[in-house]
Amino acid sequence: MLESMLKRPIWITNFKYHENATGQKGLDLAKIHQKVAQSTGASIGIAPGIVDLQMITDAVSIPVFAQHVDGITHGSHTGKILPQAVHDAGAVGTLINHSEKRIDLEILKEALSCAKKAGLCRILCAENPAEVEAFAALEPDFIAFEPPELIGSTDQSVASSKPESIEASVKVANGIPLLVGAGINSPEDVRISLELGAQGFLVATAITKAKDPEKALRSFLEAMQ
Ligand code: G3P
Repeated sequence: MLESMLKRPIWITNFKYHENATGQKGLDLAKIHQKVAQSTGASIGIAPGIVDLQMITDAVSIPVFAQHVDGITHGSHTGKILPQAVHDAGAVGTLINHSEKRIDLEILKEALSCAKKAGLCRILCAENPAEVEAFAALEPDFIAFEPPELIGSTDQSVASSKPESIEASVKVANGIPLLVGAGINSPEDVRISLELGAQGFLVATAITKAKDPEKALRSFLEAMQ
């Protein structure tokens, strides 16, 4: 079931806490993703902020991811994010170790293990090909390669500025499907990344800050299919 919901190539929009992707606007944006997924048949997921997670899983049936979980099980962990609670709230997976939420290796391993036990699909984020290689040994479900210096860029992307690093990451990912992100802002970025072996995308700005997010999303998906 999860497998078929996460068919590749997959597009995942990370809502972060961008202004147009939080609260009611986040819900509206989630519904746009659902509408586009239904009309195109494309594989589309979203990663809203944790506060909006339950509201959004109640409203849409596309795969929803948390942006982070902690390596914990039920207990006294005030303020942490419990993987089982994320699962019970209707999410299918989670990002782990996003550039904006980096965690130490031992904590990361705990988070991966607890997320797996909770039945979550784990997207482990890496900043460079060396990390992709090291993280592949931890056997996450996906690795998301995102060079931090290009995150949020609107005129440069991992595909236009560092295509060789996508190719290198695919090689060392050891068969684990590689998503790419950081500055993805044109259908050309999508085409280049797929040609280099990427199996999906993790994107924020190009959708969350677009004047017309639906139009933007459709233009990327056309290139993806
Ligand atoms: O997780 C997605 C991300 O960090 C890329 O962000 O704004 O460069 O698409 P952006």
